[in-house]
Amino acid sequence: MTLALIPGSFDPVTNGHIDLIKRAGTAFDQVVVAVGVNATKEGWLAPGQRVQLIEESVRVECPDLDVRVVSFDGLLADLVSEVGATAIVKGLRGSSDFESESAQAAVNNDLCGIETFLLPSRSELTSVSSSLVRELFRLGAPVGRYVPSTVTLFLESIRPNKHGSAPAGFGLPQ
Ligand code: PNS
Repeated sequence: MTLALIPGSFDPVTNGHIDLIKRAGTAFDQVVVAVGVNATKEGWLAPGQRVQLIEESVRVECPDLDVRVVSFDGLLADLVSEVGATAIVKGLRGSSDFESESAQAAVNNDLCGIETFLLPSRSELTSVSSSLVRELFRLGAPVGRYVPSTVTLFLESIRPNKHGSAPAGFGLPQ
């Protein structure tokens, strides 16, 4: 059995991430999506919200794939053995991604012998990133082109109203 481990911050999950999950799902028997939680760096969405948004998006976008979503804190190499990963799979949007991803791939290989498969993004998705989505959202612009419908609905539910306060009673539980 082959298992692809796809780690990332997913803050929030984008159409680029979903495309990567789908492509890994056709090449590997199972996919584990791992939301990295950095204790020293506060994220935008809570880790539990990020996990739930990925789970729900995968259920809608690729219901036939065997995908599990976890969060992790610490070394990715430890998670590799915990879940029994065959390979790490990551997306490449351009040359700056290649530099940082190849360095991480080398370190992970040193730590536990795992190989990292780097998949180039589809051309229409090269400009899609979580940071772009956060910036558009912060400035009041629509984000629906870049994220799964589950994420659009969630973000619209937490968008502050014109008086600057967030609507009460919305959002995923953390
Ligand atoms: O979305 P990102 O920023 O590419 O995600 C980064 C993440 C979480 C995949 C990366 O920071 C990570 O692997 N963190 C775990 C810490 C670790 O194992 N470091 C050593 C290998 S570089």
